Amino acid sequence: MSKTSQDHIEIFDTTLRDGEQSAGTAMTVEEKLVVARQLERLGVDILEAGFPISSPGDFEAVQNISKEVTTPVIAALARAVASDVDRAWEAIKEAKRPRIHVFLSSSEVHALHLLRKDRDSVMQMAVNNVSRAKDYCENVEFSPMDATRTDPEYLCQLLQAVIDAGATTVNIADTVGYAIPSDFVKLLGFIQEQVPAIGKSVVLSVHCHNDLGLAVANSLAAVEAGARQVEGCINGIGERAGNAALEEVIMGIQTRKDLFGLKTNIDTTQLYPTSTLVSDITGFSVQPNKAIIGSNAFRHASGIHQDGLLKERSTYEIMNPNDVGILGSELVLGKLSGRHGLQSRLNELGYYPTDQELIRIFESFKELADKKREVTDRDLVALMNNQRKGFEEAYTLEHVQVSCGDHEVPTATVSLKHGETIKTEAATGTGPVDAVCQAINRIVGVPNVLSEFHVRSVTQGIDAVGEVTIRVKKDTDQYIGHGADTDIIVASAKAYMNALNRLIALEDISDIKPIKTATKKQ
Ligand code: KIV
Ligand code: ZN
Repeated sequence: MSKTSQDHIEIFDTTLRDGEQSAGTAMTVEEKLVVARQLERLGVDILEAGFPISSPGDFEAVQNISKEVTTPVIAALARAVASDVDRAWEAIKEAKRPRIHVFLSSSEVHALHLLRKDRDSVMQMAVNNVSRAKDYCENVEFSPMDATRTDPEYLCQLLQAVIDAGATTVNIADTVGYAIPSDFVKLLGFIQEQVPAIGKSVVLSVHCHNDLGLAVANSLAAVEAGARQVEGCINGIGERAGNAALEEVIMGIQTRKDLFGLKTNIDTTQLYPTSTLVSDITGFSVQPNKAIIGSNAFRHASGIHQDGLLKERSTYEIMNPNDVGILGSELVLGKLSGRHGLQSRLNELGYYPTDQELIRIFESFKELADKKREVTDRDLVALMNNQRKGFEEAYTLEHVQVSCGDHEVPTATVSLKHGETIKTEAATGTGPVDAVCQAINRIVGVPNVLSEFHVRSVTQGIDAVGEVTIRVKKDTDQYIGHGADTDIIVASAKAYMNALNRLIALEDISDIKPIKTATKKQ
């Protein structure tokens, strides 16, 4: 390992692989590319783009990212199986700096119940497939899955064997979030003692899950114990309780540089835009008290704290919100702002629309500025959310009209454009949103259940933009939709259309007939 890697922590982002495994996240190929470009701006060292054998869509996403995102190492995941390794290589072979990431369960409980193999066979599979990966690619990572519940002696023998077969990074996976910092540190110490190449010619990595709420604590403890690569996801998304939240790991290392004496390549001002983008695309909102990027993370409510802050910021703030990309100024643009002003504000917020996109966005911005006196940063984020397509839209909303009230049966009339034709339907419902959804269902005709409905006000005030997030279910799959408007019924219609269009795009439904479908009561 070079001198720089000793004082440098490599950030391995797996938002598009482990993060995408979270129940209820379904990203399109285009959306994955949008996230990948933002992760490149953030400065991650390694970007795990997906698990190519898992689906044709994942393969395509990894392939596209490999061609277009050139700064980070692009990793593709593979089980220790020849066909997986071959498929992973096929997907990343055009990347500037490709990595094949091979994993295999190492714990007794996994070997017995999942693999039904003895230790020697597990070791053989790992060695064979690391060496197969090595034939394709110099950069190979091996992860013993469930490493923290694996017999440490056997774990070390396995690690030595894969290193001999060519692994350049070994990743100690706390797959089920079982580790406690002190005991994780002991395990990492033991591994480095028993396998001398680790920490020298081979990078020691950790991958912590959050089942006990300790993923970030374990990752930081691991860094102190010699790990030089940390894996995790933006906003801590991922299987079950998620992965280590990268924004927390990164700011932990930066804020306590007195303790760690280490650096990352991350442009921390891109953390907030990246978090917002991932939250928008996955539909997993960030809780207000979430460290680093939650809406309350830098808000001080208590009088004593406010007083202290006014006297000297560092009394109650250990980080500057600007350093994580949370900009102080809220009221920036208005009716008279020009396209250039809009563009530079969007860039500051982490959005880089093309010239063509900017023309469309500017039109929507002007419409919004006509309705609202002041267009805030949060309004702009909502507007960008509305604009982002990420897939071909089968239907677009032309018109929505609702009548409702305490003595009325809520009734909606909706017109949608499908190809060159405009279709109109009316329906009643338990409330105005239900009526809108029923009318849309009559036109679109895709069986689905509306399983989640959230509305939140983007900013304060009576003229605020309302942002609606909807999740619809078809069989076992879930699809997210967003919509924003000053009128929440219109926002709801947009969100529902967004979810249905996503469903149609991802399921490739071409033959759809009008049906009556169930939507949950609001
Ligand atoms: O949690 C885990 O063990 C994994 C591996 C594939 C690294 O995600
Ligand atoms: Zn994992």
